[in-house]
Amino acid sequence: MAQKSGDREAYLWEEGDFKISRMRPCHLPQVVAIERSSFPQPWSYSLFLSELSNRAATYWVAFFQNKVIGYLGLWMVWGEGHITTFAIHPAYRGKGFGKKLFSYVLDYARNEGCREVLLEVRPSNVKAQNLYRKFGFQVIGVRKHYYADGEDALVMKKVF
Ligand SMILES: CC(C)(COP(=O)(O)OP(=O)(O)OC[C@H]1O[C@@H](n2cnc3c(N)ncnc32)[C@H](O)[C@@H]1OP(=O)(O)O)[C@@H](O)C(=O)NCCC(=O)NCCS
Repeated sequence: MAQKSGDREAYLWEEGDFKISRMRPCHLPQVVAIERSSFPQPWSYSLFLSELSNRAATYWVAFFQNKVIGYLGLWMVWGEGHITTFAIHPAYRGKGFGKKLFSYVLDYARNEGCREVLLEVRPSNVKAQNLYRKFGFQVIGVRKHYYADGEDALVMKKVF
């Protein structure tokens, strides 16, 4: 049964004060605040809300000391995973939380039968590319002018 906003979190992963659970509508104000401080063309509240009822998509949130500090989304279609969005709150970056959340989701994708996972990343976003390379992702192509400001996207892929 779906949880209401006042219910206890159903954590899927706990490691000390770091926890992961499925994203629910009650998390969206914090998720949207992180989104706005992370991306020049942020997703809206209503886009996240509609994604939560997309049957091909799964979204997670990460907590540190009971505060939402990050999130990640994955579409899975016919054995192919696609990371839709991923961010950690600016004040909590560089502490290993992104790696933990990413690692959790890759394990999930593999266990759910994904053969490969793809994502797009800006060529200027070296930090994120470093993280993806750590997990075995490689650049397989470029989508020209992919982002609204005209920057290309690197397409990166990991095959399990
Ligand atoms: C990308 C992002 C999610 C990484 O999360 P994070 O919690 O800061 O990452 P971690 O602390 O777990 O670091 C993971 C790896 O990223 C790389 N990294 C992190 N900070 C870095 C920095 N300042 N410079 C270069 N590489 C860096 C390193 O490879 C690091 O691994 P290491 O600690 O073993 O060296 C986060 O920086 C973020 O939210 N950025 C803005 C939104 C964004 O760009 N999302 C990705 C869109 S494709």
